[in-house]
Amino acid sequence: MSRTQKILIGVLAIIILIQFIRPAKNISVAATPNDIFEHYQAPDTLKQLIKTACYDCHSNNTVYPWYSNIQPVAWWLNDHVEEGKSKLNFSEFATYTAKKGDHKLEEVMEEVKEGNMPLKSYTLIHTKTKLNTSQREAIVQWAMQTRKQIQPNIQ
Ligand code: HEC
Repeated sequence: MSRTQKILIGVLAIIILIQFIRPAKNISVAATPNDIFEHYQAPDTLKQLIKTACYDCHSNNTVYPWYSNIQPVAWWLNDHVEEGKSKLNFSEFATYTAKKGDHKLEEVMEEVKEGNMPLKSYTLIHTKTKLNTSQREAIVQWAMQTRKQIQPNIQ
């Protein structure tokens, strides 16, 4: 066997082996009574938009595409989910203080206005999550309206 063949077989073996190391999935079967939409009204189209574009990384339930079962995609996605959720979790929104909730929605307005969210690397493969201008505006408006409902509760 040539040196190149040995290297190829080695690489193939590693690719196969890493398929068995899977991170736990971010799927919760429990009800989410603290979900932002359980507490603040929003039109169904807006809810759907946020759920499609943001919930994969900012909620307790990720909708996994088929390729997320292939390594290293699953690790990469898992990193984003862990980090995204730790900063902002819409499923746990009602557990935030009014001050924190208001601030997080201020961040939502900024990130969406600037086009930073959803992450570019994500919209590249998950093209249906790419937002157009009117969708961005709708999210910014919604965040602003929701902040108005939260702000009177800030101590
Ligand atoms: C592919 C995963 C992913 C998706 C989808 C996604 N985000 Fe994020 N988000 C992250 C990660 C990772 C961070 C933390 C790193 C950073 O700020 O770049 C983050 C950070 C944020 C922050 C900053 C929170 C803070 O307190 O610093 C906001 C606000 C935010 N995202 C809003 C959104 C909104 C709104 C959407 C949908 C339009 C969205 N994100 C979609 C992964 C994602």
